[in-house]
Amino acid sequence: MKNKDLQPLIETKDLVKKFGAFTALNGVSIDIFPGEVHALLGDNGAGKSTLIKTLSGVHPATSGQILVEGKQVHFSSPRDASDAGIGTVYQDLALNALTSVTRNFFLGRELVFGKGPFGILKMNEMHEIAVAEMAKIGINISDPEQAVGTMSGGQRQTLAIARAIYFGAKVLILDEPTSALGQRQQMEVLKTIRTVQQLGNIAIILITHNEIHARLVANRFTFLSLGEVIGRGMAKDLEGDDIKRLMAGGAEIGDLAKELAI
Ligand SMILES: Nc1ncnc2c1ncn2[C@@H]1O[C@H](COP(=O)(O)OP(=O)(O)OP(=O)(O)O)[C@@H](O)[C@H]1O
Ligand SMILES: [Mg+2]
Repeated sequence: MKNKDLQPLIETKDLVKKFGAFTALNGVSIDIFPGEVHALLGDNGAGKSTLIKTLSGVHPATSGQILVEGKQVHFSSPRDASDAGIGTVYQDLALNALTSVTRNFFLGRELVFGKGPFGILKMNEMHEIAVAEMAKIGINISDPEQAVGTMSGGQRQTLAIARAIYFGAKVLILDEPTSALGQRQQMEVLKTIRTVQQLGNIAIILITHNEIHARLVANRFTFLSLGEVIGRGMAKDLEGDDIKRLMAGGAEIGDLAKELAI
C-alpha cells in the first residue's frame, strides 16, 4: 500500500505530548496512507490513546507537527479535526439508544425544508441516505426507524463508521472497536473495516489489543512503547512472533516467559 509517490493523508512529525512533567508521547512520527488499515499497537500506557486524542483535537500537542494532506494543521477542538477529515469513532460511539437509526445518523446535521428552528425535517430523504450509506459498507437495515438500542453492537459500530464517512472523514480512527463485543459481532466489525479498506480512498487507524484482529485486517503496523515508536512495518514483512513481541513493548518472548515464572 505504501507508495513513495502517494502523499500521506495524515502525518505526524516528532510529536511530543506532556502531561505536566510526564511525557506521554516522546517524538512520534507516523504516516497514514489512503486505503490502508494501519494498526497502532502497544501495551497499556504506551500512548496510543494520547496519540489519537492529539490527532482528533482533544489534546493540543506540546511540540511537533501534524500534517493533513501535506499541510500543517493546528487543532484546538475535536470539531477542527473533524472538519479536516479526521473522524474518530469512540468506544461509546456517541449514539442515542432510544432514537432511530436515521436520527442517530444525522444527529445535529439533519436535512430540513426551510430555515430556522421550525424547518421541517426531510425524513424520507434522510432515511434513504442512512440506509444507502450503511449498505455501502455492508450492513442492510430494513427499518431505519428502528431504535438504535435494538441493533447489535457490530451494527452500531457500522452506523458510527458510515456516519463519519458520510460527513467527510478521510481518516477513520477506531480505538479498540472490537473490545466490548462478542465473537460474531467482532467479525461483523472486521468485515466493515475490510469493506471501507476496499473503498480505497479512506484510511483507518485501528487500535486493538487483539493481535489476531490486527493480522486479519491491517496492511501496516506501528508499535508504540512508553511514548516512542519501537517498530513499524508492512503486514507481509512482520513474521512469527514479531507482532506479539512488539505489542508487548519489544521484550523477547523468553523475557516474557521469565516474567510469568513465579
Ligand atoms: N490526561 C492525562 N493526564 C496525565 N497523564 C495521562 C493523561 N492521559 C494519559 N496519561 C498517561 O499517559 C500514558 C499513556 O496513556 P494512553 O492512555 O495514551 O495509553 P494507551 O496506549 O492508550 O493504553 P491502553 O492500552 O491502556 O488504552 C499513561 O502513562 C497515562 O497514565
Ligand atoms: Mg488507550
